[in-house]
Amino acid sequence: MIDVRPINRPLKKIIRVPGDKSVSHRAVILSALGDTPVEVSNFLAAQDCLSTVACMKALGASVEQSGDKILITCHGLHEPADVLDAGNSGTTVRLLTGLLAAQNFFAVFTGDGSLRKRPMARVINPLTLMGAKISARNENFLPLAILPADKLHGINYQMPVASAQVKSAILLASLFADSPTTIVEPVPSRDHTEKMLEAFGARIERSGNAITLHPTKKLHAPEKISVPNDISSAAFFIVLATILPDSELTLPAVGINPSRTGIIDVLRRMGADITLRNEKISGGELSADLIVRHAELHAADFGAEIIPRLIDEIPALAVAAAFAEGTSVFRDLSELRVKESDRLAAIVDEFNKISPDSFAAEGNDLIIRGRRPTHLAACKTLGDHRLAMALTIFGAAAHGVELDDHRCVDISFPNFFDLLA
Ligand code: S3P
Repeated sequence: MIDVRPINRPLKKIIRVPGDKSVSHRAVILSALGDTPVEVSNFLAAQDCLSTVACMKALGASVEQSGDKILITCHGLHEPADVLDAGNSGTTVRLLTGLLAAQNFFAVFTGDGSLRKRPMARVINPLTLMGAKISARNENFLPLAILPADKLHGINYQMPVASAQVKSAILLASLFADSPTTIVEPVPSRDHTEKMLEAFGARIERSGNAITLHPTKKLHAPEKISVPNDISSAAFFIVLATILPDSELTLPAVGINPSRTGIIDVLRRMGADITLRNEKISGGELSADLIVRHAELHAADFGAEIIPRLIDEIPALAVAAAFAEGTSVFRDLSELRVKESDRLAAIVDEFNKISPDSFAAEGNDLIIRGRRPTHLAACKTLGDHRLAMALTIFGAAAHGVELDDHRCVDISFPNFFDLLA
């Protein structure tokens, strides 16, 4: 339990948020596919990425950690001796299911109560088309078993949903196939896998929303990978500094890969004052210092085309909309229903405790009436890290909030409450 008090003063700070979760997962997985050591700096040592580390160790990788640096060495993957536990991490299980679908050994995945409710058919279906042998509970849920595969075949696959996890699973399996694979996304999702695969020497072609990967016998790992800071973690502080009068917050070296910056675009459209400085590129990934100043916000209306570029930032954006003038409409949020919780239902149920009758779901759209009265409230986090952090900034910018379980922030942002304090 935690008692979050209102912050009745401006934020005037430099805040360094931790390394990017998506890039950290991929750095561990891909580094195990070349046979030279890779040093990953600014690695996110949070529960989700540690689930990936534990799985990769069980598959034969050596991972040495010191602070936020890890050194990965692997000379071939082998069959795990036990069930692989992905914990709370959809990225771990989905990406590794793609990788293991192409290996000549047996593996079983499970996960925590939340992950066991999340859909896996979205990765099983395309991998099965490639020739993989995968069984899952009710053909959709963990536990999931992967049987030794014969050679996989390249496919042309039109993805029914925009999902970087599904795309990455197919790309990882395609590395080992006997012909190229083309994936077409309805709307582009984050492209960290493609960028990192290219840094490892894989051949990828892009045309509109189509990505073609040519199978690669051997990946050539770079000696070092530097992870940018996580824009999805920065999101909570970007919104807080925007809301709190007279604030000026600097967030150094935040990843600004264009497939992740939907939050900056939407907040700017709402009137936010966000400046980017010191743009850099490292390992194909762009980063910049973000300077965020307080601004008066007005309502937003957005949907499908931008959703994959801000999918994890909806809870933080819902807080921004609650402080904006007018009624916001966030459309086409069906994917929010299959995250660590049903985040659409959770936002309506829990955020309304802080600001009654402000949040409503109509189908898969979220309607937010801004600038309505707020109260001190007791809310449930449902064990969902991003819900916990969004409720925290909402309470901190309003009249406080009491959260039943706050340690779920360890999934992606273990020092969130320390930085906030
Ligand atoms: C992620 C992709 C997104 C995102 C998740 C991380 C990734 O999921 O919500 O937190 O690292 O590929 P989907 O691909 O299911 O949309």
